[in-house]
This record gives sequence, C-alpha cells and structure tokens, in this order.
Amino acid sequence: MKQIFLEEMSAEEKRAVIRKHGGETEQLLSVLLELQSLSRRSYIDEATAAVVADEMGLSLAHVHDVITFYAMLSAQPRGRYVLEVCTSASCYLVKSQRVIGWLEEELGISLGETTGDGLFTLTTTPCVGACDIGPVVKVGDAVYGNLDRDAVRRLVAELRAM
Ligand code: FES
Repeated sequence: MKQIFLEEMSAEEKRAVIRKHGGETEQLLSVLLELQSLSRRSYIDEATAAVVADEMGLSLAHVHDVITFYAMLSAQPRGRYVLEVCTSASCYLVKSQRVIGWLEEELGISLGETTGDGLFTLTTTPCVGACDIGPVVKVGDAVYGNLDRDAVRRLVAELRAM
C-alpha cells in the first residue's frame, strides 16, 4: 500500500490521526510523534500544528511550546530518516564516536546536518535503553545495535533503498 505522507494529507486526514489518540490533552505528545513520523521531512509544519491545536482545543502557542521543548520533535524540516547515535556512557565506552565518524563519511555530512537530498539527518541521543547491544543508532522507532563499519554501511544502504 502506498504511504501517504503528512505533506500530502488534508486537514481532515490529519484530524483522523489525531482522533485515534482519544482527544485528551495528555495525548498531545503521542499525537505529535505520530504526525511527525508521517512527515517526509520528520517535522511538524505550521499548518499541521494549527490543525492539532484546533482539534485538541489547545492554543497554537502551547502546541509550539511542546514541539520546541522535546528534542525528538522538530518544527524545522529534517531528513526523512533521523539517525540518532547514542552517546551515553555504555555506548560511549564501546566507541559510539566511531559510529558518528563512519556515518559522517557514509553520508558526506557532519553531525547535526542533513544530506542535500533530504534523506538523512545525523544527530545524537541520550541512552535509548539498549545498552547491551551498543553502540546503537535509533532511527524512528527502530534501534540498530552492535554497529561496526560494515553494519553502518549496510544500514545506510538499506534506508536509501526504502
Ligand atoms: S548507553 Fe547507549 S543505549 Fe544505553
């Protein structure tokens, strides 16, 4: 089935996604995370934030505050795939810095940047709870562990082919 991206969804389709979460204001974070996961560029655009505010009976300023408060949310376009390298203690000890270097080489960008084709953003994250398989990279909900040079190369090729 062809995926419909946030950028092509009507306001009504966005409202349907929001309603699935039940409508309570405590669900705001889950709503925003799901909508962002549907974005081609891994972000919540202005129009979507306005639909969320309206549907959930919140002010647009509050929705903006939440988007800017959480590092996993973004109001700015990022890569379709945001590669988050864990840099907390366990992963650091098993050389997460090398993973960053390999990804920089593989993608031709530096940490914090997005590739010119809009496919990848390279960033870091605190511990994602998969310390036993470090060093790890989180991409959306998936965590890839035990990364060496080849595994990093395969991961990037796999994502490029998706
Ligand atoms: S320290 Fe990296 S997953 Fe826990």
